[in-house]
Amino acid sequence: MPKRTKPYLLHASIRPDTKVDYGSFPFSIPAVREVESIEFHPNVTFFVGENGSGKSTVLEGIAVALGFSAEGGTKNVRFQSAGSISPLHEYLRLARGVPKPRDAYFLRAESFFNVASYMDETGYLKGYGGQSLHTQSHGESFMAVLLNKLQGNGIYLLDEPEAALSPIRQLAALTAIHQLVEDHSQFVIATHSPILLSYPNAKIIHFDKLGVNEVAFEDTEHFAVTKDFLNNYPRRLEQLFQDDTDA
Ligand SMILES: Nc1ncnc2c1ncn2[C@@H]1O[C@H](COP(=O)(O)OP(=O)(O)OP(=O)(O)O)[C@@H](O)[C@H]1O
Ligand SMILES: [Mg+2]
Repeated sequence: MPKRTKPYLLHASIRPDTKVDYGSFPFSIPAVREVESIEFHPNVTFFVGENGSGKSTVLEGIAVALGFSAEGGTKNVRFQSAGSISPLHEYLRLARGVPKPRDAYFLRAESFFNVASYMDETGYLKGYGGQSLHTQSHGESFMAVLLNKLQGNGIYLLDEPEAALSPIRQLAALTAIHQLVEDHSQFVIATHSPILLSYPNAKIIHFDKLGVNEVAFEDTEHFAVTKDFLNNYPRRLEQLFQDDTDA
C-alpha cells in the first residue's frame, strides 16, 4: 500500500462570502484576525500565548469546521452543553491535503468531563481501554485517550492536554505524540506546557495583542520563565513575596 502523506490540514482562510465585524467577538481578538497567516506544520503545530489570547477560540473554530462537536471527542460525539460556541467556524474555509485522515479526535480539558459522561451514556467505551473514563483519574483518563483511542493516520486537536498530567505523564504524552506522528498523524495543540513545547520538528505559533507569529522553543516565555524560576527559585520567591515597602 502506498505511504499516506501529510499534512491533512494546510491552512485556514476567511470565507470571502462572509462579512467580518472586527469590533466584536471573535474577530475582536487580534490572533483571530490573523488566522489566515497560520500555516500548519505537517507534524505538530503548537498554539501558545497568554490566557485569553484566543488559542481555544481558534482551535474550536477549526475543530467545528472539521466536523467535531465544540465539546470535543470523536466526530461521532453529538451533544451541546451549556457553554457557548464561538461563531468562528462559520467564517472559516479549511485548505486540506489530498489524503483524508482515517482517524480524528478533539481533546479539550475544559469539557472532557462532559465527553466522558456522553461515552458512559452511549456505552461507547471500546476505544477508551474498555473502562469508564469516570472511574479513572483525570490524568489516567487523558492518557487512556492518548494511548488507546488515537489510532494513527489521524488529525488530532488537543486543548491543554497537560492540564491533568504529572510531569512524568507529560513525558509519556510526548512519546505517544511522537509515535502517532511517525504513524502519519498531524496535531494542533494549544498548551502552556514547556515539556510538550520541546517537541522537535514542530512549529510554535505565539498569540498576542499584535496577532500571531512563529517562535523558537527557547525563545518562548514558557521556556525562559520556567528555566529561570527553577534555577533561581529561592531568590525568585523572595522577590515575589517582597513587601512593596521594602522595594
Ligand atoms: N463566546 C464568547 N463570547 C465572547 N467572548 C468570548 C467567548 N469565548 C471566549 N471569549 C473571550 O475571548 C478571549 C479568548 O478566549 P480563549 O478561550 O480563546 O483564550 P485562550 O488563549 O484559550 O486562553 P487560556 O490560555 O486561558 O485557555 C477571552 O478574552 C475570552 O473571554
Ligand atoms: Mg484556552
